[in-house]
This record gives sequence, structure tokens and C-alpha cells, in this order.
Amino acid sequence: MSAPPATHGLLAAADPSLATHLATHGPLSGQVDLVALAERAGLVGRGGAGFPTARKLRAVADAARATRTTPVVVANGSEGEPAAFKDAVLLSRAPHLVAEGLHLAAAAVGADSVVLAVGPGQAAEVGRQLAGRPDRSPIRVVPVAGHFLAGEETALVGAVDGGLPLPRGKVPPVWQRGVQGRPTLVHNVETLARLALLARGDRSAAGRTLVTRHTATVDVVEVPLGARLGDVLPVPAGVQAVLVGGYHGSWLPAAVAADVRLDRDGLASVGASLGAGVLAALSADRCGVRETARVVGYLAASSAGQCGPCLNGLPRIAAALGLLARPGGAPAARARLLQDVARWSGLVVGRGACAHPDGTVRLVASALRVFGGELAAHAAGWCTGAPPTPAFLPVPTVGAAA
Ligand SMILES: Cc1cc2nc3c(=O)[nH]c(=O)nc-3n(C[C@H](O)[C@H](O)[C@H](O)COP(=O)(O)O)c2cc1C
Ligand code: SF4
Repeated sequence: MSAPPATHGLLAAADPSLATHLATHGPLSGQVDLVALAERAGLVGRGGAGFPTARKLRAVADAARATRTTPVVVANGSEGEPAAFKDAVLLSRAPHLVAEGLHLAAAAVGADSVVLAVGPGQAAEVGRQLAGRPDRSPIRVVPVAGHFLAGEETALVGAVDGGLPLPRGKVPPVWQRGVQGRPTLVHNVETLARLALLARGDRSAAGRTLVTRHTATVDVVEVPLGARLGDVLPVPAGVQAVLVGGYHGSWLPAAVAADVRLDRDGLASVGASLGAGVLAALSADRCGVRETARVVGYLAASSAGQCGPCLNGLPRIAAALGLLARPGGAPAARARLLQDVARWSGLVVGRGACAHPDGTVRLVASALRVFGGELAAHAAGWCTGAPPTPAFLPVPTVGAAA
């Protein structure tokens, strides 16, 4: 087995067929110690939390041994984040890397069934591409509802088991009791595809990441971790702020964003994280408060309303932000709204069964920090991005909430 050049990234294949995949990346052969490979490479998950992959593989294998139960592996390609397209692009360009990662992970933890969860629009095509694979156990492709919470791992396990995609709380964790009550390894599809490259000897695979870039257009590219953000996403003078991570992420002022290193430590130093890999450049002729209010309205409407923070907190925060996004109003009333948002935000953190409230108020707090000038303009009766300026960030209509 010869290692492919480091330039053979996740999106290198010209089409999703098995023949092109093998011609691009070469065959996967021989035994590998996947846990050791992931550990040595420092691979962390690409599903949002950046959890070390080797640690998760070990936890599932240990739980299976301790309970004498055969585990399940689920590839998370549901991508509920409306601004992220990296997983959809990966599945449409390189489904066989994901499939190989799934089987490698299954072998590493001793699993006998493998599931690939994808958005409802992708299931048929992905299933067709994978149909001819010479695997011993077939991959079960499961379409999951395309809404924000569906990709949260406990919600995903519920959907794979044929139930509603509802987060159910972290205890017991899915690596102990997941699909059919069995220890379950849930990895993002990009994480699994990176395992397939690592298994081929491409050691640089853990040091790159897929990002969805929003500028005047939207695209998905693979970039080196540690790159200067301004070299990955053009941040010209006409950009005022960058949304980093996605709708559970953070706004950064353009000047800060341009020079930050795109990795865990670099982003943490400015209070951000890579999250779902979204980078969105907000131009100076748009209103960041209005954009955030639209997103937070969507996030509040997307919650299951199962826990106090989502039932009581997020709708109030969304409503207050909606009022602050409009120019005008009495200064005292606006000041009270700002205090309310800060107080309610403090009350929801750490109180939900999943991280949805925490992620939502992280975005809100960053908007209030970064768009102070815009809030002052609204208090003075003026808005930078008032209609007819079109909306920037994609916000779907919420149908059936979780
Ligand atoms: C509200 C919420 C939504 C999530 N949506 C996704 C998603 O769409 N896709 C995904 O891979 N992970 C999502 N996650 C993270 C998963 O719960 C899980 O951590 C991840 O799939 C693990 O994969 P990784 O170890 O490869 O990062 C979400 C988490 C939360 C709290
Ligand atoms: S915190 Fe919100 S989104 Fe998470 S499970 Fe509870 S109600 Fe649902």
C-alpha cells in the first residue's frame, strides 16, 4: 500500500463512483490499529464538539466488552445546521471514503451493524452509490428529518431506532446505551472519511478540515487547520464581522477574525470554535442584529420545548432580540430588553437536556458584543441593513419541531 500524496484531500475524487474513488485514493488494504492511528494523528471529531476520536472509539469498545453487547456504529451525515453544507458535499463527492471509515470504525470497536444517517434529500443517491460495495455487512442508509436538532446524537439514535429525532438527555450516554440499547459509536461523516485517509497512511488527514464559506457566494473547501482565517475566507474592507462555527457559534469583528488561526486553540483565544465548520462574512451594508435575530428566532422555534430553557428561555430571548433588531423605541425600554436578554441567557446555560440552549445564547452574547454600534444606531432610529436589503444567513421555515 503506498501513501497517497497529502494533496489527495477528501474532495479530490472527480465523481462519487467506486471506480473513481479507488483510482483517486487507492485501495484500502491490510490491518490497521485505528485507535492508535487516530490518537497519534490527534484526530478530533468534526461534528461540532471536537471530541478526541480515539477516546470515543475506546469508550465504545470498553462499554461493549463490559456489557458483553455488540456495538453499533452510526455515521452522522444529517447536517441539521442550515448554514453548513460540508457533509452534504462530502457525501455527494466521496461517499466511499465515508463508507470505508464506517467499516474501519466498526472493525475497531467490534460492531456488527453500520448505519449511515443522511438528510432526507440525499438517502436515495447515497444508497445508489454505495449499493455495489463489496462489504461483508451492508450499510443501512437512514434518512433523518432535516431540522436543527436531528443531528444531536441522542436524537439521531432515536431516529435510527424508528422514533422521533428528539434529544433525550445524555444519561446514559449513547456510547453505553444507544441504538437498540447497545453501545453506539456516533461519528460525523467527515470524521469517518478522515479515518479512511489515515488508514491509507495520509498522516496529514487529521490536520485539515472542511469548511462552508459564505461570502457573496457559498462553497465548501478543505483547508489546513492552523491557517490564518483571512487566508481561508476573504475578509476585505467591506466586511464588518465573521460568523465562525455556525448557529451555535460566535460572531467575531472582521479585524479579529482575519488574523485568527483556524484551529481549536487559535479560535478559543478569541472565544470561538470551529463548530460545524461554517465561516460567514457579513458585509458592512447588512445588519448583524437583524441577522442574529432571524437565526435565534429559528433556533427557538426549532427546539423540542421539552426542557425549561427551551420552553421559557429561548422564545423570550428571541422575541427581545426581534424587538432590538428594529430601529426606534424608547431608550429605557431598549435598555431593559438588553438586560432581560443577558439575564435570561444566564438562566438557560447548562440547564437543558442537550446543548441547544447553551449554543443559542453563545451566539446571542457574541452578537451583543460585536454589534454594539448597530444597536446604538437602532436606538437612534436607524438600521444599516433595513429592508429592502436581502437577508444573508439561510433560515429555513420550521415545520415539525423536534
Ligand atoms: C443541537 C445539536 C445539533 C447537532 N447536530 C449535528 C449534526 O447535524 N451533525 C453532526 O455530525 N453532529 C451534530 N451534533 C453533534 C453530535 O451530537 C455528535 O457529537 C457528533 O455527531 C459526534 O461526531 P464526531 O465525534 O465525529 O464529532 C449536534 C449536537 C447538538 C447539541
Ligand atoms: S434543551 Fe431544548 S433542544 Fe435540548 S432536549 Fe431540552 S428542549 Fe430539546
